[in-house]
Amino acid sequence: MRGRPRKLAGVARRLVDPATLEFWLQHLDPLFAVERVRARVEAVQAETPRVRTFVLRPNRRWRGFRAGQHATVTVEVDGRRLTRTFSLAGGEDEPTLRLTIARQPDGRVTGALHDRVRPGAIVELGQAQGDFVLPDDPRAPLLLLAGGTGLTPFLSMLRTLAARGARRDVVLLCWAPRPAELIARNELGALPARLPGLRVHTAFTRDGMARFSGDGLRALAPDWAARRAYVCGPDALTAAVAAHWDAAGLTTQLRREWFGAPRAAAAGAGPVAVACTRSGRTVTVPGERSLLVELEAAGLRPAHGCRAGICRQCTCTLAAGAVEELRTGTTRHEIDEPIQLCAVRARTDLVLAV
Ligand code: FES
Repeated sequence: MRGRPRKLAGVARRLVDPATLEFWLQHLDPLFAVERVRARVEAVQAETPRVRTFVLRPNRRWRGFRAGQHATVTVEVDGRRLTRTFSLAGGEDEPTLRLTIARQPDGRVTGALHDRVRPGAIVELGQAQGDFVLPDDPRAPLLLLAGGTGLTPFLSMLRTLAARGARRDVVLLCWAPRPAELIARNELGALPARLPGLRVHTAFTRDGMARFSGDGLRALAPDWAARRAYVCGPDALTAAVAAHWDAAGLTTQLRREWFGAPRAAAAGAGPVAVACTRSGRTVTVPGERSLLVELEAAGLRPAHGCRAGICRQCTCTLAAGAVEELRTGTTRHEIDEPIQLCAVRARTDLVLAV
């Protein structure tokens, strides 16, 4: 059965357009796709009360991934195709993919995945992306700082290293609200036996337990400044860690992966005009929320994926004006540089290649 759609595809590809071809051949093999990555859900595992792991077997369009990368997942919600980005949690050499996903309050995609996606379902994926990956030097000591499901890219790294029988000097610090909400809790306890050189420290942010602090870091990893550091988690954790590295003059030693949509904190710039050179339209936006949200509200349809500053599908060129990075508050006005529409808001009138 699996060979038949491919033979038919070879003949039919010359006769019909790819989208039509894909539509009909999916009746023979639901994983069939001319170009897209489709995956069958093989299992759904509860990690914590609000986190599940989806075990996926992708079709042959999947090109593999490096531990720490992420991929988009597209689902249909109320007749609309919605896409979000999630880190891959499994090891690079595993035959299936693992996505460990927390249900977000009011999250339409995470809600749909938790409520409707069961074993046997087919989901659409994007190819793996991102440079949040292990350094090429296999001897570099590592420091991994994770908050909540920000642990998932690190699980991928550690599972990959353990499966390959590596020895690696790694300190993993992870925070969760409480013990019952720490994902892969049992595995974290067992991993040091499989990955010599790994030390795992957990902390819980409710019940009066500690959050990130420089003193806490020095106590657990006195040589923190000499390690390649990675942080992934909620904005508050990532910002606190980044500020610590910045203050030590070690900004380039830290790699950071944000998750969750960037949010604006202070007041907006007031109405600003955004000239969009590709569509030929000029619209007025409030300058309060992300450019992606405000351009959509003005009737434009910019390309996008995760809406969280991760996938870069909303990248476009700033031709004139200034924007503010929502996560850091930094103003950017470098002309002809790429910006991510979901991660910035307008500070002045703009010209964008959208
Ligand atoms: S939509 Fe993914 S980075 Fe903006």
